[in-house]
Amino acid sequence: MTEKFGTLNDFDESQREYLNLIYEVMESRKRGEKPVAFIRTYGCQQNVADGERIKGMLSEAGFVFEDKPDNADFILFNTCAVREHAEDRIFGNVGALKNLKAKHPRTLIALCGCMMEQKHIAERIYKSFPYVGLVFGTHALHQFPELLYRSITTGKRVYLRDNDDSLVHEGVPIKRDGSVKGWLPIMYGCDNFCTYCIVPYVRGRERSREKDIILSEAREMIDSGYKDITLLGQNVNSYGKNLKNGVSFAKLIREIDDIEGDYWLRFMTSHPKDCTRELIDTIAQSKHISKHLHLPFQSGSSRILKAMNRHYDREKYLDIVNYAKSKIPDVSLTSDVIVGFPGETYEDFKETLSLIREVGFTSLFTFIYSPRVGTPAASMPDPISAEVKLKWFQELLDVQEEIASKRCASMVGTTQRVLIEGEKGKNNILNARTSGNIIVEAEGSPELVGTFQNVEVTKAGNWILKGKII
Ligand code: SAH
Ligand code: SF4
Ligand code: F3S
Repeated sequence: MTEKFGTLNDFDESQREYLNLIYEVMESRKRGEKPVAFIRTYGCQQNVADGERIKGMLSEAGFVFEDKPDNADFILFNTCAVREHAEDRIFGNVGALKNLKAKHPRTLIALCGCMMEQKHIAERIYKSFPYVGLVFGTHALHQFPELLYRSITTGKRVYLRDNDDSLVHEGVPIKRDGSVKGWLPIMYGCDNFCTYCIVPYVRGRERSREKDIILSEAREMIDSGYKDITLLGQNVNSYGKNLKNGVSFAKLIREIDDIEGDYWLRFMTSHPKDCTRELIDTIAQSKHISKHLHLPFQSGSSRILKAMNRHYDREKYLDIVNYAKSKIPDVSLTSDVIVGFPGETYEDFKETLSLIREVGFTSLFTFIYSPRVGTPAASMPDPISAEVKLKWFQELLDVQEEIASKRCASMVGTTQRVLIEGEKGKNNILNARTSGNIIVEAEGSPELVGTFQNVEVTKAGNWILKGKII
């Protein structure tokens, strides 16, 4: 345990007053009856969870939310830096706000999230988009009220990045997006430095939340009706390592699992290098943990895994998967995979395909390698052309589609317990999900949203099932 890590419950004393001040200032600034915010979040669930905290703070300052920017007094993009495509979208969307800002000069445009932690990006925004008034990075989230207040009242551009990344700040209000599925961050940051990945640079060092705080947030969510709770961290298996008297992740989920109620518990992401047999046993024995393991493998070639700095090889990955299959009947495995890492050959790529076939994943998040400024892989020789990588990528998608559709077809005629998550348009078609994370559509009354039901699977597509509630 390094001394510099710690938890501060300082939101109330340092920031809450600013929310009251913003409320007062907005009384005379708002365009409509109430101050309106338009918040758009990109990227992973960690960013979604941050976005829910930003909405929590804005709500307490009197804001309401709209899903179009036209009437907004405050526009915020919560950004993701994980691939170039994600960044390009942000630049495009910010560029598109120029006219809106010209029409409504008092609308404040802000950017936050992972992209803003990169110096070259913040500089580019500063130079190219003079109408962006507020920029802050992931480490400044808990100071948002103060930054927003400064920005509104001074009319000057406020840019803040690269703050202290070693502390966990508690007490920030939350306005969750859903009422059935919810996110619960258990840790922040990442210390793994996979050679392709920007996350450790933009999210800072790994730090865990205190167990009791997590347990009380979980209880609160269960009491208020959440039925599917996902614990979040970049590598949940190293939970607790920087805490004084910290417990292991397996122990943490056992304690959450003991909370009474009808709910499913999931977690992501589990790094294969730290995925222990104890964790698999815990899933197998638990009442609430869904029989689903998201275990990103990234590549099926041990040589590439080494170059990626993943700290496991193909054999170790398959070993843990086979253990999971032996202990958890019908376990549903999902994963992330990268095609075209620098130096990857077709031989390496074929090992990725054979691993996919051997494991039989329910679904995959598939990515073409995207170089990230400042990461080691960005300066590795990368001789394979974009066209060839795209061809490999398509080959991979075809293989996975075949596996997923076979799996779905094999479920026709079975009865599955599902959670009804919402309505699919009107027509009484409901969207539901199995414990193994497969989407099921079934006819039923909207009143069933938020309940568990048994569904007989009647039809299978490539990725989704159709069924009848029984
Ligand atoms: N912490 C998680 C994943 C975080 S990022 C883990 O270790 O699994 C989500 C996924 O994005 C990664 O699993 C990886 O597959 C992909 N990814 C990250 N950096 C990338 C890059 N530079 N190019 C392409 N895909 C990338
Ligand atoms: Fe990125 Fe690796 Fe950390 Fe995941 S574990 S966030 S891939 S550095
Ligand atoms: Fe993107 Fe940041 Fe998540 S870079 S994937 S939003 S941690």
